[in-house]
Amino acid sequence: MPQETSQSSHLPVRHSPCTAVVGLQWGDEGKGKVVDLIAPRFGAVVRFNGGANAGHSVVVGGVRFALHLIPSGILYPDKAAVIGNGVVVDPEALLRECDGLTTRGVSVAGLTISDRAHVVMPYHKVEDELREKLVAGDAGESIGTTKRGIGPCYADKAHRATAIRMGELLDPAALRVKLEMICRVKKALLGSAGADLDAGALTAWAGALAERLRPHVTDTTYALHDMLRAGKKLLFEGANAALLDVDHGTHPYVTSSSCTSLGIPAGTGVPAQYLGEVIGVVKAYTSRVGNGPMPTELLNDLGQTIRERGREFGTTTGRPRRVGWLDLVAVRYSAMISGATSIALTLLDVLSGLPELNVCIGYRRIGDANGAVSDRFTPDAEALRRVEPVYRTFPGFAQDVTGVRSRAELPAEARAYIEFIEEFVGVPVRLIGVGPDRVQTIVEDL
Ligand code: GDP
Ligand code: IMO
Ligand code: MG
Repeated sequence: MPQETSQSSHLPVRHSPCTAVVGLQWGDEGKGKVVDLIAPRFGAVVRFNGGANAGHSVVVGGVRFALHLIPSGILYPDKAAVIGNGVVVDPEALLRECDGLTTRGVSVAGLTISDRAHVVMPYHKVEDELREKLVAGDAGESIGTTKRGIGPCYADKAHRATAIRMGELLDPAALRVKLEMICRVKKALLGSAGADLDAGALTAWAGALAERLRPHVTDTTYALHDMLRAGKKLLFEGANAALLDVDHGTHPYVTSSSCTSLGIPAGTGVPAQYLGEVIGVVKAYTSRVGNGPMPTELLNDLGQTIRERGREFGTTTGRPRRVGWLDLVAVRYSAMISGATSIALTLLDVLSGLPELNVCIGYRRIGDANGAVSDRFTPDAEALRRVEPVYRTFPGFAQDVTGVRSRAELPAEARAYIEFIEEFVGVPVRLIGVGPDRVQTIVEDL
């Protein structure tokens, strides 16, 4: 046995050099923009969950970048961009993203991928689509997934024997043997739907991609701890969001990973006590893609207006997002389970010009007008379908706020709206988004 060097020995942590950026709603809160904005303060930006279901937009000088698997810190050439073990990696989608960035002059040399991250195989995407069809049946409701193979890949991770990790992609001979077994198992389980499973073709497919990815695949757990030992700070970039969390979200209308800060230790190998700040990103209203309950949804013209103004069409699938009023009952729950130490409030500019703004401060059972009001969120989808929102109404603000760069310059009505959010959730707002561009941001003591 080689001697352990002092370099790899464990030192108890007495400081918290890591920060997380996580979504506190149903996704698309603007996490990418927030990560891009604060990334210069960190040595590395690290993804810990999800896969190419995420779509994070970053706008710099009017130029838009859409990132799916690659951490949003990639736009800074001196930052390490790390895909942790908790991420599920579609190698084809990842290389497409790398090529897209390279073509636009962005280097991906600083990208590393955990050898323990699981691989999304082509059959995972086929199974995702098939499951959605079968679950819906003739009249039922599917989850409304992004069809990126996320659920089936995480399912194989839990099944263990039929899973493939990034490190395994790099050994074609062993991969071929494993794929023979996987194809046999899957054909037996899928029947005629498994007709396309061919170990030889899949090995060839993986081989070509693996050669390009090989220089990026490494033991990111040790790499992250080496960075911490060297005094570097890490920024964890959440994908998806708290209400889509597989344990704490609106099950079963959720994704398949741990999307809050609770997922960081398991998804990176960096223990929880390294985490100091947790920035919870909150859209100034609510959006949701896919199916499942959303108590404050606006199914009227106002909803359409907000959708158009906020350009609420999915970064990954292009699907129109469902929109509604800000649900503070949900946000307070998400902030609680995420340990949010501050809020980044985004897309405030989208609300300008609306005569009144509603925020949900409680739930009442539908059809029970005199019933008790609860200020507790229920992550049970069926229970959440049975509640209606109790609103507090605020006067709107008419001014265009896209040029505002300090809270003091905001209209009084907007400031009152923000102060109420801080008071209700019990967490200070330290960043306010007033437009998609990096510079369209009010940053306060973050
Ligand atoms: P993410 O998945 O949380 O990173 O969010 P997305 O990038 O999917 O969706 C957020 C959308 O809002 C993107 O189109 C962003 O460019 C845009 N955006 C982010 N912050 C702001 C803001 O403060 N105002 C406006 N108008 N757009 C914003
Ligand atoms: P970002 O990181 C919005 C939703 C899907 C679907 C459910 C399950 O951009 O905020 P999946 O394909 O993960 O099995 O789909 O989760 N969903 C998202 N919605 N933003 C996301 O990511 C999402 N990632 C997954 O729409 O309802
Ligand atoms: Mg998104």
